[in-house]
Amino acid sequence: MKHIVILISGTGSNMAAIVRAAEREDWAARLGARVAAVISNRPDARGLQTAQEAGIATAVVDHRQHADRAAFDAALRAEIDRHQPALVVLAGFMRILTPGFVAHYAGRIVNIHPSLLPAFPGLHTHQRAIDMRCRVAGATVHQVTAELDHGAILAQAAVPVLPGDTADTLAARVLTQEHLIYPRAIAELLSKG
Ligand code: GAR
Repeated sequence: MKHIVILISGTGSNMAAIVRAAEREDWAARLGARVAAVISNRPDARGLQTAQEAGIATAVVDHRQHADRAAFDAALRAEIDRHQPALVVLAGFMRILTPGFVAHYAGRIVNIHPSLLPAFPGLHTHQRAIDMRCRVAGATVHQVTAELDHGAILAQAAVPVLPGDTADTLAARVLTQEHLIYPRAIAELLSKG
């Protein structure tokens, strides 16, 4: 069985969408894959409870309990590797990872980013899209490489930016698309190998 480990920092709605898709589409039987664990860098992440309610193992690796990024990444890597993952899924995981960490999972770590990459890597993507008067915005599923938000694109979805949109209204419209494209992209990756 291929193990999927999902990393979150907050609400975990993308994680929940992946868990629901895995259940609904019977990834265990069809893809030989299952969500083995959900790990958060924040003990108060709402998604931890959602995962527990779905019967998934959870763990916290609190970045504030580690002296520096390297120590945090080492602890996180140890926690992830307990599950021998075929795929590590960043789902609203708001920490920058060290190049060594990313290299360890090369080819088996993916992220979802709330913009149409390569536009707007980094933070505050929705406000930046509104400020630039973009007509479309969206989300991107991509391979994770050492350079932030720059790996090969696996899936994208576009939504219109509407008159009167705020960062929040646009974020909500984009998020509904994230919930569709992320599970689909993961299933596709798993089916390839
Ligand atoms: C999502 O919109 C995701 O694309 C974004 O955080 C949100 C998490 O929501 N990720 C990033 O900004 C990564 N840099 P969720 O916790 O409900 O899935």
